[in-house]
Amino acid sequence: MTTYYHAYGARASSINNHTQIAGRYGVQELAEKRIVPDILHKLDLQATDNLLEIGCGTGNLLIPMSFICRSVTGIDHPSCLDKLTKRYQHSGQSLVAGNFLDVDLITLPKFEKILVYSVLHCLADEGEVFDFIDKALKLLKPGGRLLLGDIPNKDRKNRFLSSQAGADFLTDWNEQVKQSGIDEPAFEAVTSSVGFDDQLVLQILAHVRRQNCESYVCSQPCDLPFGNTREDIIVQLGA
Ligand SMILES: C[S@@+](CC[C@H](N)C(=O)[O-])C[C@H]1O[C@@H](n2cnc3c(N)ncnc32)[C@H](O)[C@@H]1O
Repeated sequence: MTTYYHAYGARASSINNHTQIAGRYGVQELAEKRIVPDILHKLDLQATDNLLEIGCGTGNLLIPMSFICRSVTGIDHPSCLDKLTKRYQHSGQSLVAGNFLDVDLITLPKFEKILVYSVLHCLADEGEVFDFIDKALKLLKPGGRLLLGDIPNKDRKNRFLSSQAGADFLTDWNEQVKQSGIDEPAFEAVTSSVGFDDQLVLQILAHVRRQNCESYVCSQPCDLPFGNTREDIIVQLGA
C-alpha cells in the first residue's frame, strides 16, 4: 500500500521546491510564509516551550519556529529529514525519522506544544487519525497544547465554492496558475487517504474532550495557502 507518507518521502528526494514538497502549489510560496504567524498565535508559542512537529516535511514551518522557542523536534520520512538537515541545523533541533504511528514513544520526552499541520488527511483511514491523535496527546505535558492544523474539510470547501466569493476566487486562482507558468509535479499514486468532512471534525472535538481536553475549531486567515477551505483544531490538555 502506498500512503502519502511514502509519496511525500519520494517527493522530497525527487524535487527541490520546498513549497511543492510540502504539498502546496508553486504559486503559494508567498502565502506559505503567512502560516507561521498564524500558528504562533494559535499555539501560543513561548520562548520557553519545547515544540514537537509531527510531519514536519523539509522544515518550512519547523525552521522558522526554531528561532522562537527553546527546542524543536521534528518527525517525518527520512528523505524529508535529509533535505531539512541540508537546509538548516542548530543545536536545539532534534529529528526522528519514521512513521509517527510506529515511532517508539519511550525515546521521546514530553512537550509543551505539538504541531500537526496538513498531515491528518495523509493517513490511511479514520482509525489511524484517532490513533495518531491519541499518541500525540500522550506526548503533551499537562496544560500543553496541540494544534491539528490545515484540515481539508470537504463540506467547508463545498460551502465556500458554492458562494459568490468562492466563484470569484476560482476565476482569480485559475488565471494566477495560468500566468505563473510553474509546473506542478505529479504525486506518486496513493492507495488510501482520509476524506475529512464536518462529521469527522466534530467527532475529533468530542473524542479529545473525553480525554481531559478542551477543543476548538478555528478558521484560517483567507490569505493563507488554503485559507478559504481548510480549518484548524486547537486541543488544550488539562493542567
Ligand atoms: C502536506 S505535508 C506538510 C508538511 C509540513 N507540516 C508543512 O505544513 O509544511 C505532510 C507531511 O506529513 C508527513 N507525514 C504523513 N504521514 C505521516 C506519519 N504517519 N508520520 C510522520 N509523518 C507523516 C509527510 O511525509 C509529509 O512530509
